[in-house]
Amino acid sequence: MRRAIGLGVGLALLGLLLPGSLAFKENEFKKCAQTSFCSRNRNVQQGANFEIVPASVTLNTATLTATLMNKQASKHLQLTLTAHADGFVRLLIDESPSVGRYQVPSDILVSGWETRKAAIKEQSRSANGIVLTTGDTKLELGYAPFTLAVSVKGVPALQVNSRNLFNFEHRRPKQDSDPAGYWEETWMGHTDSKPKGPEAMSLDLVFPGFAHVYGIPERATSLSLQATNGNAPYGEPYRLYNLDVFEYLEDHPFGLYGSIPVMLAHKKGLTVGVYWNNAAEMFVDVVKGRGEVGTQWVAESGVVDLFVFTGATGPAVLAAYAKVAGTTALPQLFSLGYHQCRWNYKDEADVKAVDGGFDSHEIPYDVLWLDIEHTNGKRYLTWDSSLFPNPAAMQEDVASRGRKMVTIVDPHVKRDSSYYIFSEAESAGHYVKNKHGSDFDGWCWPGQSSYLDVTSPVVREWWAQQFTTDKYQGSTRHLYIWNDMNEPSVFNGPEITMQKDNLHYGNVEHRDNHNLFGIYYHMGTADGLKLRGSQVDPENGDRPFVLSRAFFSGTQRVGPIWTGDNAAQWSHLKVSVPMLLTLGLTGLPYSGADVGGFFGNPDAELMTRWYQLGIYYPFFRGHAHLETQRREPWLFGPDVTARIRSAIRGRYALLPHIYTLFRAANTSGQPILRPLWFEFPEQEDLYAEDQEFMVGSSMLVVPVTAPSIFTVDVTFPQGARWYDAATGAPVPPKTKTQRVEVSLNGIPVYYRGGSVVPRRERPRRSTAAQLADPYTLVVALDDKGEAEGQLYVDDGRSFAFQRGLYLHRDFKFAANKLTSSKHVEAGVPDGTLTVPTTIERVVFLGLPPSKKGYKAVISDGASGSKHTIALEAGPLSLATAPESTQAQVLRKPDLPVSHDWTVEIVQA
Ligand SMILES: *[C@@H]1O[C@H](CO)[C@@H](O)[C@H](O)[C@H]1NC(C)=O
Repeated sequence: MRRAIGLGVGLALLGLLLPGSLAFKENEFKKCAQTSFCSRNRNVQQGANFEIVPASVTLNTATLTATLMNKQASKHLQLTLTAHADGFVRLLIDESPSVGRYQVPSDILVSGWETRKAAIKEQSRSANGIVLTTGDTKLELGYAPFTLAVSVKGVPALQVNSRNLFNFEHRRPKQDSDPAGYWEETWMGHTDSKPKGPEAMSLDLVFPGFAHVYGIPERATSLSLQATNGNAPYGEPYRLYNLDVFEYLEDHPFGLYGSIPVMLAHKKGLTVGVYWNNAAEMFVDVVKGRGEVGTQWVAESGVVDLFVFTGATGPAVLAAYAKVAGTTALPQLFSLGYHQCRWNYKDEADVKAVDGGFDSHEIPYDVLWLDIEHTNGKRYLTWDSSLFPNPAAMQEDVASRGRKMVTIVDPHVKRDSSYYIFSEAESAGHYVKNKHGSDFDGWCWPGQSSYLDVTSPVVREWWAQQFTTDKYQGSTRHLYIWNDMNEPSVFNGPEITMQKDNLHYGNVEHRDNHNLFGIYYHMGTADGLKLRGSQVDPENGDRPFVLSRAFFSGTQRVGPIWTGDNAAQWSHLKVSVPMLLTLGLTGLPYSGADVGGFFGNPDAELMTRWYQLGIYYPFFRGHAHLETQRREPWLFGPDVTARIRSAIRGRYALLPHIYTLFRAANTSGQPILRPLWFEFPEQEDLYAEDQEFMVGSSMLVVPVTAPSIFTVDVTFPQGARWYDAATGAPVPPKTKTQRVEVSLNGIPVYYRGGSVVPRRERPRRSTAAQLADPYTLVVALDDKGEAEGQLYVDDGRSFAFQRGLYLHRDFKFAANKLTSSKHVEAGVPDGTLTVPTTIERVVFLGLPPSKKGYKAVISDGASGSKHTIALEAGPLSLATAPESTQAQVLRKPDLPVSHDWTVEIVQA
């Protein structure tokens, strides 16, 4: 979270926070034209100066190498093109390694893919270029000027430098004639010295035959990226530079707290993904027209390290990207429940009252959060002993009801020699250095602060050790962590961050690795919780839970993020959907927006709608600014409390499905929330849809993001049957759009025919209290009368699942038979867990009408028993009114989830 009012040096510029007004100050942040490396490259035609030296082109199995000449500068570059068995090609362009340009360290990505190469075949070669193939992919490398065209099965996928916008600036000696900005630039009183001079690069990437591109988070904008040559604010390129943006706007290309340099393009039959593995500041232009999307990417430093992923659809591209950047760490189950946060829950009595409030109002929740005021003067890992005299007892008390707590821990360390963290880190030399080589000193919450240099593995290891329960006084194993301000935020720094000429481990300039600071801090903290868990139980320690605000590619392996300081406005509720969908498409699905909006005071209707949507956010937390009115879910009157209770209970009912989706995210990089095009890749009219979305592949959610709404026009993707998830009523076949009535009691949600969705419907106080509960299966039939789905179960807590201690079932309904069988998946150990839980209800949607009704013949493969139960017309769920009788319900079949069984549906 950000300061309430300007603090300290230079902050007079920020002004006061005026509730209800937008305080985003565009002038506080640089535009392309005010940034030397961007303005000297944007739209500048340099590409024809770059030529491949034909005689240098060498092909060696999976690797092509060549010399790329910059004719104008008479400089040589090394070009390397490799093909990889995981379904991508990589283009590296660097100066001679002796120049020592910065490369993203290998621990940001996963290992293994480098050596799994795929052969490249030479198809033809001429004086003008060489044509290569690898699998279905054709690579045409043109020599003069340098171009690369990628196509898949004859369909154009990507062109490099076809618009002549490629550029690569070289390290060079300083000359008197050098323009201003090459060696130094000044912004709002901050001078950035550039001892290495200009070293930017420009990538010219065209997606031929595409109309839509997605990705490059984080910003508050549409899912399908708008062109940047339009009217303000879309006349500016998208920016990738992690910044603490005070009160961001809900429709703006400006970059926020995290950066993932990944873009996807999709057309019928082909999805393309690109990832530029570069952590420096970047600007990305998008232009549309002539049946293509042209993009220009300009980065301040580093090298060209471009990964190109292709696939027939989105899931294939994300699976390939996951081989490089990794998949989502499987979270503990508790962290998928509801989180209650506020700046600040004041003291132990407040904690007790809020915790008790959930119980007395019968609203489930799992985690209570403490913001910065819980510390002794913003010295993280300490407690304000007058407000929190017995923190361990407080956590144990909350934990006695199956819940957890979270404290905030930020990367700025108060410069106070009596603070053990500060003095230990200072004497060990663990801080980021300023350009003169002494400890950097910046202003943040505690006043003067230094910043741990978490880019160093040694510093991360030391940092991790601070989280064991003997080190972190007053902590218990029920306490988890929240990393805020890790862009890093520096109140008196340029653009509220660190100087680019600060120095890191290995003498790396902050300019080179700025966008990695957040992930490294997050990593060090998560390593700390892993260490704590392994001390308790070396084999089956608790999985970490650390929320971060800043992020980069690979953050999914560390923990969730949230979208930062949003506002209690309908427009912020609305933009949360494309923001989270974009994160899912760029490999970081475990994310959420603050429910209710951080700044300002939501009214009861906004609060209600936010919870009704928020229950589908992968990370589901309510949070509020220090100066807002209290807004625990029961403070808006009994009707609103009832609606919020019902929404949050709906989340808990859906957790078996959500946890199963997280398993797929963990094994194959698939998102939890999905844009409609991702599930219906052939339907062009859905490519820009960014309000309706899918939860996995089986549920369609239609947010309500404006006040006083009584009807909404729902778009139904074609080729599927849909059932109203509240009533079970089928949507008439071939309906493209339907105007449906909405009340304040809920937002429209539909099951997709063809799916089986596992649920747990008994209202409980937390995920821990659900552990032994039986399941309900919703079986929604498609046009062929078939359906399938899965259920993944493990201890919800430890790493034991990686040794096979999990249960994973496939449910299939075909030829009137529902079968449960073991799910097997290549590349993961076989599941060996059994659980004593049963399935207590099976709800069938879409069985043809039958006069006599149906009965179910149940055979348990394990026990060999057989019995018959009549289906009843019944409510869809235990929480819905009995008058909804669109479902045929099998009650009390008591099917053991761990067994193979079949349920055959026959006429009664
Ligand atoms: C799944 O999550 C765990 C941590 O929760 C992680 O160690 C593992 O690498 C992830 N990926 C796979 C493929 O298991």
